[in-house]
Amino acid sequence: MIRTNILGDPAARHEARLLWNGNKGLYALLEAARHTGPITRVPRLGWVVTDPLLARRVLNDHASFGMTGEGGVGHMWTQLFGAEMGELFGGARHTEVRTRARDLFTEESARDLVERSQGAHHAAIAARLAGGGTVDVADATRVLAGRLVADLLGLPADRGDGAYRRIFAAGERLAALAMGTTASTELAPGVLARARTIVDEITAGVAEAYRTAGTDTILGRCREMGFGVPLARGLATLLAIAGTETGASGTSRTVVLLHDTGQQRTLLAEPALLGNAVREGLRVSAPAPVIGRHVARDAVVGGRRLRAGERVLLLTYLATNAAGPFDVRREYVPESRQLWFGGGRHLCLGAAVARVQVARMLGALHAEGRPYRVVSRRAATGVLVPAYASLRVKTAT
Ligand code: HEM
Repeated sequence: MIRTNILGDPAARHEARLLWNGNKGLYALLEAARHTGPITRVPRLGWVVTDPLLARRVLNDHASFGMTGEGGVGHMWTQLFGAEMGELFGGARHTEVRTRARDLFTEESARDLVERSQGAHHAAIAARLAGGGTVDVADATRVLAGRLVADLLGLPADRGDGAYRRIFAAGERLAALAMGTTASTELAPGVLARARTIVDEITAGVAEAYRTAGTDTILGRCREMGFGVPLARGLATLLAIAGTETGASGTSRTVVLLHDTGQQRTLLAEPALLGNAVREGLRVSAPAPVIGRHVARDAVVGGRRLRAGERVLLLTYLATNAAGPFDVRREYVPESRQLWFGGGRHLCLGAAVARVQVARMLGALHAEGRPYRVVSRRAATGVLVPAYASLRVKTAT
């Protein structure tokens, strides 16, 4: 089992079931790696790292560990969108794009973005619960993630919920194609063709938005930087993947962890613990459970010599969970820091956005100052990021 003492711990049991149903390959990898050392070489996979300090050591060494060669996520994006897209995953181009987009991702921008794209929905959720109704949190997180990314990109934000559910579902299908890449990030021609069809679906409105979007949006910035539509499509797809599944998964799982551990009552009694609750929810759920890197040049990590051309899998899920189970009173853990958001130059750009989203959902569920009860839950199956397909809650009586 993923955790020790799982039988006596309902929260751990539900999390393990979620991983098992969602992504059996991931479950097996995490299960096997629990019994290995901090860094181990696994045939056909490469180096597997479970220790938080070693994981950060890899993430901070940009000269030795890259994103674009075999094993790095940039390798897949390069195959999909070409070498120009690959350049965005490292070096000067990467720095330039991050610098030009930074102001869109500050704490203040994150609060504005979430309020603009999700505020009305949060109010509707609170009203529904106050009226004794049931809310499907998992469905809401998918719609809200789609709305948020559309707003951030500069795509039309005034469509019905169904349009955003479809964007999310397309992103999920595209990400699922990456599930076969644990052993190699080289995509087979059939997989590439399927991926391109899904990309067409996700980016249907990008060419139009590229021309018209305001300069406070990602597509507007792409235009200002003279990226051209093909590269803008690549970046739009990247955001549609990076900013949706992880956020939706982390939000629902934080809601569930607070419920299953009974600690939502502690949070209701002490609202100042909200920041802790969000951090703990993301630490324990670690919605990006594995980060891959290509070994660009020989390096020594944890006393082991890694050779150029090999690959490394950082198991963030195990690294962040090493600190123990969900505890709303747990202080910041210096060893893992925010490893669930990665580290080094590629540290999640949307970290503030993700935190605000989770906090706002908890705020909506607790708007009446009363706890919620999980009425039913169902895990998503065959997904890259383990998540709830459905999570129905109502205010406890
Ligand atoms: C709980 C939710 C989230 C988690 C756990 C998460 C996790 C991560 C991780 C681990 C990375 C680094 C990947 C690597 O180094 O290979 C990353 C990168 C990134 N994330 Fe997030 N993410 C979340 C939400 C978001 C959101 C909401 C957005 C956008 C609105 C976003 C945008 C990005 C971008 C653009 C990058 C690439 C940064 C770069 O390469 O410089 N993420 N995320």
